[in-house]
Amino acid sequence: MIFEKLGVFYLGRPYDLENKKPQEGYILYDSKDLTTHAVCVGMTGSGKTGLCINLLEEAAIDHIPSIVIDPKGDMANLLLTFPELKKEDFLPWINESDASKKGMDPKAYAAQQAELWKNGLASWGQDGQRIAMLKQNADFAVYTPGSSAGIPVSVLRSFDAPEQALIADDELLRERINTTVSSLLGLLGITADPIQSREHILLSSIFHSHWIAGKNLDLSSLIHEIQTPPFKQVGVMELEVFYPAQDRLSLSMKLNNLLAAPSFSSWMEGQALDIKNILYTPEGRPRVAIFSIAHLNDAERMFFVSLLLNHIVGWMRSQSGTTSLRALVYMDEIFGFFPPVANPPSKLPLLTLLKQARAYGVGVVLATQNPVDLDYKGLSNAGTWWIGRLQTERDKARVLEGLEGAASTSGSNFNRQRMEQTLAGLSSRIFLMHNVHDDEATIFETRWAMSYLRGPLTRQQIKVLMDPIKSMSGAGMPLQESAPAKASSSTVSSPQRTVMKSDLPQWFIPVRNQPMPGQSLQYQPHLLINGKVPLASEKYQIHSSRTIHHLVPIQNTPLPFQWDDAFICSIEAEKLEKNPVPSAVFSEVPSLVAQGSSLTTLKKDATQWLYESQHITLWKSPSTKAVSSPEEEEKDFRLRISQSLREQRDEALEKLRKKYAPKKLSLEERLRKSQQVVEREKEQVKHQAMQTAISVGATILGGVLGRRSISTSGIGRATTTARNASRTMKETQDVGRAKESFEQVKKQLQELEASFEQDMQSLMHQMDSMNEELEKQLVKPKKTDISIQLLALCWVPYWTDSNGKAAPAY
Ligand SMILES: Nc1ncnc2c1ncn2[C@@H]1O[C@H](COP(=O)(O)OP(=O)(O)O)[C@@H](O)[C@H]1O
Ligand SMILES: [Mg+2]
Repeated sequence: MIFEKLGVFYLGRPYDLENKKPQEGYILYDSKDLTTHAVCVGMTGSGKTGLCINLLEEAAIDHIPSIVIDPKGDMANLLLTFPELKKEDFLPWINESDASKKGMDPKAYAAQQAELWKNGLASWGQDGQRIAMLKQNADFAVYTPGSSAGIPVSVLRSFDAPEQALIADDELLRERINTTVSSLLGLLGITADPIQSREHILLSSIFHSHWIAGKNLDLSSLIHEIQTPPFKQVGVMELEVFYPAQDRLSLSMKLNNLLAAPSFSSWMEGQALDIKNILYTPEGRPRVAIFSIAHLNDAERMFFVSLLLNHIVGWMRSQSGTTSLRALVYMDEIFGFFPPVANPPSKLPLLTLLKQARAYGVGVVLATQNPVDLDYKGLSNAGTWWIGRLQTERDKARVLEGLEGAASTSGSNFNRQRMEQTLAGLSSRIFLMHNVHDDEATIFETRWAMSYLRGPLTRQQIKVLMDPIKSMSGAGMPLQESAPAKASSSTVSSPQRTVMKSDLPQWFIPVRNQPMPGQSLQYQPHLLINGKVPLASEKYQIHSSRTIHHLVPIQNTPLPFQWDDAFICSIEAEKLEKNPVPSAVFSEVPSLVAQGSSLTTLKKDATQWLYESQHITLWKSPSTKAVSSPEEEEKDFRLRISQSLREQRDEALEKLRKKYAPKKLSLEERLRKSQQVVEREKEQVKHQAMQTAISVGATILGGVLGRRSISTSGIGRATTTARNASRTMKETQDVGRAKESFEQVKKQLQELEASFEQDMQSLMHQMDSMNEELEKQLVKPKKTDISIQLLALCWVPYWTDSNGKAAPAY
C-alpha cells in the first residue's frame, strides 16, 4: 500500500452517519499533527483503545517509538501480532470465558478468532504482511514496575540527578523535585502540601542540594540525609527548630520500613528509567514500551506514573527541536492522573508535556471514558480530538462545551445543534475527528487493529509473553555501568604491602564512604595511566585529543594486567593520597609486576594498549553521505539521521499537497460540472455517475489531501484562486467547456492520481535509508603522538565482607 511510508497514519475510512454506512476511501492522519497532541474520549466499548492501538501501530510502522502507560492491562495486546494469522497463534491468547459463554471449546474458538481477524483485516485492505512489517519495524516490550512479570523497572535509580538541560532550567528542576517528593511521600501514605508540609520542604531541599551539584540520590542515602541533612538552615529557620532531629528520625524510619518491606525489593531491581534506552533498542530500533501498572495500588501507580512522566520531560528537554513527530506518549484511561481540580503529582509533568512537547516532536495522546476527568487546560491544548459514543448527557455537554471553545478560538463557526445530533448518532468504532489542522470535522470508522484485541492480560499472561523476549534480547538486563569496578576476591591479601622492586610510584585512592556492619577495607592494585592521545583526521576535519586517566586492574594471573577491564579513574590525580588508611589489608601484587616490569617496558605496553584501544568511530550513511560527529554513538547518529529524514519527508509531503491540491480541486469542480450536464441529458445514468464521482475522490490522493486545512498549510491562496476561477467559469464561461466529456475529466483525475503515486514512490525510496547499513570508519592515533604523563601503581579501596563480596569504598 502506498500510504505506508507517507508519514500518514491509516486510521480508518469515512463513515456516513445519516445512512449508517461506511464510505469508500481512507482516513489518513498526518503524523505531524500529533505533535499538537490528541485526546480520545468515549464510553467503555466505544473503541478508544482500538483506535489508539491503531495509532501506535501506525507510528511503529513509521519507526516512531512510543511510551504507553497502561492502567487497565489492554495495551499489552500490542504484542499479540501474528503475521501468519494461524489458529495455533491465537489459541494461547483467547479469552476462555468468551469461548465458554459461546459454548465453544477453546480450539474451535481460536480458529474462529483467527478467521475473524484475517477477514477483518482483509476488509480494511490489510494482511499478514502488514503485520510482519509492523513487527519488523519496531520492538515491543511490556515493563512491569514493582513486578518481574514483564521487564522490571528500578525506581531507586530514578533519584539520579536529572540531565544537565533540566538542572539548568530552574523552573523545570523545581517541578521535577516537587513531583518526585510528592509521589514519594504519597507512597508513604503522606499527602503533603508542597508549601506547607515540612516533610515536603525538607525532602525537596535535600533533593535540590544533591541534584544541583549533579549528585545522585538513592533511597538509602536519602534516609541518611534526612537524619543529617547537608544544611543547617531551612529558609530563615534553624533546621532543629523547623524539623527537630527526633521527628526527622521518624520520617527516615518510615522510609526505612518501605525499603525493608519484602515487596519493595521488586522496585529496586531491573532497568533504570532511562527514557532513551526505553524508546530505542541498543541498535537504534524504535520500541513500543508498554508500562503495565494494573497490578499496583493507587499510591504506587501515582508514584510510578509521576516519575515516568518526569523522566520523559527530562529526556525531552535534552533533545533538539524538530517539526516532525519523534515519539509518542500514550495513556490509556487517564482517570485520576489529570483531574480538573485536584493536583496529584502526575498533573504537573503532564501539563508541562502538553505545553512544551510540541517543539521536541513528542506527541501526547490521552484516552478517557469520562471527559469530566480531564483538566480543561489540558483539553484546550490538544489539537486533535477523537470523540466516540458518549454515555451521559453530562459527558456530551462537556465535550460540546470544549468543541465550542476550540471553534471560537480558531474562529470557525460552530453549529451546536448539529454537533449534538452527530454525537448522538455515534456508535461503536465510529468516531468524530476534530483536528485543528483540518477544515472540518470528520466522521470515520476505525480500521481493523492488527494486534489481537483480546482484552486485558493478567500478570501471568504478561510473564508468558515476555519471558522468551527477555531471554532473547536481553531487554530485561539492567544496563552495564560504564566503569564496573570489580573486586577480585581470589587474590591473597595481607596487612603488608608487597615489596616492589620496580621503580613504579605508588598512590592511594581516598576512602570516601562508610562501611556496612561486618565490612573491612581492602586495597587492590591497579595500574594508573595518565596521558594524552591526539586523534586527528584531515578527511573528516577532526582535531581532537583524548585525556587518559584510566585504571587497569592487576591480578595474580599469568597475564597480570587486565587491559580489557580498564576503566576511567573518577578521582583526579591531584586528589590521590600518598598513604593508605591504617589497618587496611592489601591484595598481593603478582611477582611478575613486583619484581620485573621496569617503568620503560610498562610505558611501552601502555602505549601499545592506548594505540589499540583509543580511536574515534565514525558512522557514515551511504545514501545521505552524512557522517557522525566524533563521540556520537551509532544509535544516536541513526536517530539523528532518521529524524532529519522524517522532517524532509514531511516537508516533501507538504510540497506535494501544494502541488496537487489546487489541481485536484479544479478537476473535481469540472467533474461536478460535466456531471451536471450528463445528468441533465441522461437522467438514467445519474446514479452511476454519482457513484463514479465519489469513488474517484476516495483515493489515496483524496485521503492525503482530503480535509487538510489549506489555509494553514500555505496552499490557501492557490486553492482560492482555483476555486474562484472555476466559479467564474461556472457563471460566465462558454458552455462548450462545460460539455467536456465526463470521461475525459475522470481520466485526467486518474492521471493526476498516477502522477501523485509516482512522486510518492520516489519519496518512499528516500525514506528507505532509515534502515540502511551504516559504514564504519575509524580515526586512529599515531603511536608517536601518544604521550604518557604518569604511570603508577594505584591502590583502589574496597569494602569487603566475610563472603568476599566487595563494594567500592570511594
Ligand atoms: N480497531 C478495532 N479492530 C477490531 N476490533 C475492535 C477495534 N476497536 C474495537 N474493537 C472491538 O471492540 C471492543 C471494545 O473496544 P475498545 O477499544 O476496547 O473500547 P474502549 O477502549 O473504548 O472501552 C474490543 O475489545 C474489540 O473487540
Ligand atoms: Mg479501553
